[in-house]
Amino acid sequence: MLPDIRQLLLRSGPCLDSLALLEFYLLALENPVLKWPLILLRLKFSPDILEKIRAAELPPEEKGRLFSGAMTLFRSGATYKTTAANRSPLTDRAILARVRPGDLLLETGVSDGISAAGLLEAVKDAEILLSDRQTGLRYRDRGFARFFYNSEDGALSLKIPGFYFCTGTGTGEIPADAGSISLLNPLVQEKFKAVKLIRFDIFSGSLPRKANVIKCANVLSNIGFSPEQMRDAVANLEKNLAEDGWLFIAQNNSRYKGGEAFFALQKSGNTLILREEINEHELLPHVRSPLFADLVREER
Ligand SMILES: C[S@@+](CC[C@H](N)C(=O)[O-])C[C@H]1O[C@@H](n2cnc3c(N)ncnc32)[C@H](O)[C@@H]1O
Repeated sequence: MLPDIRQLLLRSGPCLDSLALLEFYLLALENPVLKWPLILLRLKFSPDILEKIRAAELPPEEKGRLFSGAMTLFRSGATYKTTAANRSPLTDRAILARVRPGDLLLETGVSDGISAAGLLEAVKDAEILLSDRQTGLRYRDRGFARFFYNSEDGALSLKIPGFYFCTGTGTGEIPADAGSISLLNPLVQEKFKAVKLIRFDIFSGSLPRKANVIKCANVLSNIGFSPEQMRDAVANLEKNLAEDGWLFIAQNNSRYKGGEAFFALQKSGNTLILREEINEHELLPHVRSPLFADLVREER
């Protein structure tokens, strides 16, 4: 397979994987003067930085903040792994009003799980499952090089001392003895010991037990997904819902009032009823279009 030259150039660069440098990098990204020179330096962090944060002698909150900051620099296919704690408070509040004792609540596309911290804190008598199509990163050491098999990006990368090199070619078969770097945020792991991060693709995943509430925040958007793909994802999530169950689709963006929009669909038979919407989520025009006619109907 030919390498993807654009991917190779954009994703390769000097890489030190130092915690102090990560601290500085995350601060500089917030600073309009420092941001662009830093981006032009093409500094990279490899998945090793996540293991360094996990092993660091730091207070749990600090580890959690750095871990989510590092995750925000990574990508998974068409979406970034950008995340933050309590990002979608309006959606979480609306979800909490629907969760009943004994329910199963599935949060999809959770990145490192920190976005679910508010729900994990508030929900007492229901089960919460965290999920993402990518729950870990596989790697293998060969001499002084570490190979990363990032199958979600379809790209094989390698780190040599001082440099991260994204080959731009497919990963091929991941060796059975490859190691794994967990993507679950250490703060979430520590605070909510029973929590599980499972692999679940919104397009094809199938749960052993149907969920009563599904949250899908900042996964589907007009960037990277066609309306047909959005329909496929919603149809698959509908299949994973229990009767009368709820699907919440949310997005954070500064163009929405308060920075957040969501809509809620309730399962009724084989269709979904649009019950609630806040701030005109960008998917709504598609959901209301003929493409979704046999899947979603407006509340009468
Ligand atoms: C921008 S992050 C959002 C994280 C979190 N939901 C939040 O709101 O902070 C998008 C996440 O969606 C995941 N994702 C992308 N495509 C997916 C799919 N087909 N199925 C499940 N998760 C997916 C990515 O791996 C990434 O972790």
